[in-house]
Amino acid sequence: MAQAHIIDGKAIAAELCQSVAAAAARLRETHGLVPGLATIMVGDDPASHSYVRAKGTACANAGLVRFEHRLPSDISEAALIAEIARLNADERIDGILVQLPLPAQIDTHRVITAIDPAKDVDGFHPINVGRLWTGTWGLVPCTPQGCLILLRSVRPDLAGAEAVVLGRSNIVGKPMAALLLAADCTITSIHSKTRDAPMIVWRADIVVVAVGRPLLVRGDWIKPGAIVIDCGINAVSTPDGRSRIVGDVDFAAVQRVAGAVTPVPGGVGPMTIACLLRNTLAAACRRRGLADPLPL
Ligand code: GUN
Repeated sequence: MAQAHIIDGKAIAAELCQSVAAAAARLRETHGLVPGLATIMVGDDPASHSYVRAKGTACANAGLVRFEHRLPSDISEAALIAEIARLNADERIDGILVQLPLPAQIDTHRVITAIDPAKDVDGFHPINVGRLWTGTWGLVPCTPQGCLILLRSVRPDLAGAEAVVLGRSNIVGKPMAALLLAADCTITSIHSKTRDAPMIVWRADIVVVAVGRPLLVRGDWIKPGAIVIDCGINAVSTPDGRSRIVGDVDFAAVQRVAGAVTPVPGGVGPMTIACLLRNTLAAACRRRGLADPLPL
């Protein structure tokens, strides 16, 4: 039986990181400018720590400067917002990333709206959300941006495609739907109250899954030849008591039906980091009135 093409997110992300590094080197030579990214990590959730560490390493490798801020889990909302105000005013910093989720005492929306939209490299500020939905320039959330690049690597023209997005988070599902609509897809958003999700997914030429439920999407949900993008990163225990990472898609089963599919790990994850670097570079240029060297 034919097997789906496995979309190599690791290789595509490495290429994008190289392009960012080359553009950053040119910026340094021509304008003496080194883009800076501030990461804020509140508390010590091990998974969040490892994501933030990976973002910092990628920054350094691409020749960007990273300013790391680690704050205690019991920090007040006011103190966190005061820290963001300092970073907003710091000229060395082009991008501010507050790793989510935040502890319960902090209102995430208030924190996100405290970030200068010009430095909002996550693209979560309502101003950037509005820009995305109205088709004007803005910083676009990293994970859906990465998914779009992966989709285009196998289908450059997405116009007219039936696209189904599973999950409606502000981080992935909603901005993914906006990007697919802007690419002229017909979009359907599936969520926890949707009736008969498998039947709706079966219609799709493109399926993007971001629900955080291990192996939810099975092979018999997928139309033969569809492109399947898996944003899930779920730790599950194996029978021998170890932990391993799986996606939201049953990769082994879907691979037998789909036209193309992303693996976990090595699919969407590396793209999120590459797009964060890309956004930091874009923010650095945009803030100084320079052309974005790597437009979307
Ligand atoms: N937590 C999970 N994904 C993300 C992301 O893309 N950005 C931030 N800031 N936090 C996250």
